[in-house]
Amino acid sequence: MHSVIKVDLGSQSYNVCVRSGGLQDLGTLMGDLNLGKKVLLVSNQSIFRHYGEAATAALESAGLEVSSCILPPGEQYKTLNSIQKIYGAALANRLERSSTMVALGGGVVGDMTGFAAATWLRGINVVQVPTSLLAMVDASIGGKTGVNHPLGKNLIGAFHQPRLVLIDPDVLKTLPGREFRSAMAEVIKYGVIWDAELFGKLENCQRLDQMRYVKADLLAEILSRSCQAKADVVSKDEKESGLRAILNYGHTIGHAVESLTNYKVINHGEGVAIGMAASSRLAVELGMWDAECDRRQSALIEKAGLPAKLPAGVDVEEILNTLQLDKKVQDGKVRFVLPVRLGEAAVSDRVDGNVILQVLREML
Ligand code: GLY
Repeated sequence: MHSVIKVDLGSQSYNVCVRSGGLQDLGTLMGDLNLGKKVLLVSNQSIFRHYGEAATAALESAGLEVSSCILPPGEQYKTLNSIQKIYGAALANRLERSSTMVALGGGVVGDMTGFAAATWLRGINVVQVPTSLLAMVDASIGGKTGVNHPLGKNLIGAFHQPRLVLIDPDVLKTLPGREFRSAMAEVIKYGVIWDAELFGKLENCQRLDQMRYVKADLLAEILSRSCQAKADVVSKDEKESGLRAILNYGHTIGHAVESLTNYKVINHGEGVAIGMAASSRLAVELGMWDAECDRRQSALIEKAGLPAKLPAGVDVEEILNTLQLDKKVQDGKVRFVLPVRLGEAAVSDRVDGNVILQVLREML
C-alpha cells in the first residue's frame, strides 16, 4: 500500500506519504528533498525503544549524520523545559539552518519537535514521522506546533509546516487499543465534516473498536482519506482564518469535558466523541441537520467503542462556563462547528446557552 497526498501551500507545499514499511525509506525520501546533512531525531523513550534503531539506520544508510534527543513520554512533559532539551541537543550537535529535526512519535513529540524546529536558528526543517493513529490523521499534518503553559494546553506555539510527513501504518501494531479508539473519533469527524464516502465506508465495517477488526485495505483507505481531508482543509486555510475551524468539530465541548475531568477520566478522542454527539444534537435542535444523520453518527461512535454520554459527576453548568474560557472563543462568543449534511459542516457563534444546557442535560 502506497499513497501520496499533497498539502498544497505554494512554496511551502509538502507530501504526506502513506507507505507500509515506509520507515526504512525515511532517509531516501529526505535525501530527495535536499534537507541538509545533519539530522536531529527527536522521540520519546517508549517509541525510540521500538522504532529508534530502524529510523536511525534508515537515515544513516542515506548518508545522513544522525544525533538524537530522547524525551520522557507523556503530555506532562509537553513543556518549554523539554524544548530547552531539544535546543541543547541541537547546539551540541551543531545543527545548521539547512539541518532537519525529525519527530518520531505521537502528537506530543510532533508538536514539540515542530516548535523547536520553528524557533531554532529562526526556523529549520522538520519532518514528521507520526507513530500513533491520532498523530497520523491529525497533528502531523498542518503545521500547528507548540507546548502547554501551566494554565492551558497548547497556549505557546507557532505555525511551522513540515517538509515531509511519512506515515508507516506498520508501526501501529504497538499502539494500545484505547489510543486506537480515541483516534477513530477524529476519523469519524472527517467523515461527518468533509468526506461522506469515508463515513459510508466506516458504516460498512462490522467493528471499529480494535485495529485487528479493521482489514488492512480499509485501514489504508481510512488513513489516506483522513489525511486527504486534513490536507484539503489546511491547503485552503493554513492559518485558521475560516474553514480550518471546522476541524474543531466536537473539540469545544470535548476539551471542556477533558479538562473538567482533569485529563484523567476522558482522553482527547473520547472527549471529541462526546463533543460530536453534543454538537450533532445541537444541530438537530437548531433545524440544521437531520435526526437520521445524528442517529447514524451515534451508531458509528458506539461501533468505535467511544462514549456519547457525559461522564458521571460532570456538571453541565460548569461545562458551559468552561466553554467561555476556550482559546477559540472570539469576541466573547463560543463558536460551534455544526454538521449541515454528511461531508459538510459550518461554524456558528449564535448557539443559545439554554439550548446547550438542554442538550447536555439529555446526555447525562
Ligand atoms: N487539529 C486541528 C487543526 O489542525 O487545525
